Amino acid sequence: MNSLPPRTVADFVEWTEDRFVEAGLYFGHGTDNALDEAAWLVGAALGCEPQELDDRLGDEPTPAQRERIHALVAERIRSRKPLAYLLNAVWFAGLKFYVDERTIVPRSLIGEFILERFEPWVDPGMVRRALDLCTGSGCIAVALAHSFPAARVDATDISAEALAVARLNVERHGLRERVRVIQSDLFDELAGERYDLIATNPPYVATPELETLPAEYRHEPALALAAGASGLDVITRILARAPEHLNPGGILVAEVGNSSETLQQAFPEVPFTWLTTTSGDESVFLLTAEQLAGHREAFAARGRPDL
Ligand SMILES: C[S@@+](CC[C@H](N)C(=O)[O-])C[C@H]1O[C@@H](n2cnc3c(N)ncnc32)[C@H](O)[C@@H]1O
Repeated sequence: MNSLPPRTVADFVEWTEDRFVEAGLYFGHGTDNALDEAAWLVGAALGCEPQELDDRLGDEPTPAQRERIHALVAERIRSRKPLAYLLNAVWFAGLKFYVDERTIVPRSLIGEFILERFEPWVDPGMVRRALDLCTGSGCIAVALAHSFPAARVDATDISAEALAVARLNVERHGLRERVRVIQSDLFDELAGERYDLIATNPPYVATPELETLPAEYRHEPALALAAGASGLDVITRILARAPEHLNPGGILVAEVGNSSETLQQAFPEVPFTWLTTTSGDESVFLLTAEQLAGHREAFAARGRPDL
């Protein structure tokens, strides 16, 4: 730890990192460590994007910028709010999004696969219609629209508050013509609609796990996280209804977090393909329309599981 008062931008990043570590903050809402979050905070106080910070490390922040750094650090530690909420901004799949407490902070692992356009499981040129089910801030829908420029995208959520944020992001990305925002309890308002690609990051936290989450998560809407005793309440309903909304050759991609094992155990006969992220995480699965249809009865039988 440096005992001299911080002077340069680099010093302030180090100082902020030290304060974060000392305070025992949790990092999982846009970053996964104290240093990255410190750099993000200092960059924001300077009014620069994270990728521009490297060129500013030797600069000396102005008094107003120092004050902003101090205020943000104090507020992050006092409130335990994710930094994204304090800044009303976060990056997802290389794109910047507005965010506030009406919806969770975008961080879905699906972002990585959107950038890869889900190859080799789909032919990206053939994706004409995509659905982001449980869209929250609209981040997955907007990223899909960027990665699949020929596709029309539907973005649905049950929460009117989340959808207000989604609409703002669709607007900011100039995608009003291609991304449709719809309030719906899962597929209820999508009768007759079929897609080449359905991506979803639904609520999947099991009740016992919910109680152990760090304070940062308590600023997020419970509706976005809680998925019953097993964590499978929402994903099981999605599995039961997805076949009727996929075109032949289409795919469902879903994130299920720590509930992946419970899901696999609940449906041992289903050949889930677990996609591996660059960091080795395997909590996003993929099923083809044909695989889903082949197990339709098993999914329907557990439409509302109590596993
Ligand atoms: C984990 S958040 C994901 C938000 C966003 N897709 C993301 O990745 O940041 C889950 C979202 O599902 C929504 N949700 C919960 N139950 C739902 C339901 N029955 N039908 C539709 N959306 C639902 C919540 O409002 C929340 O926005």
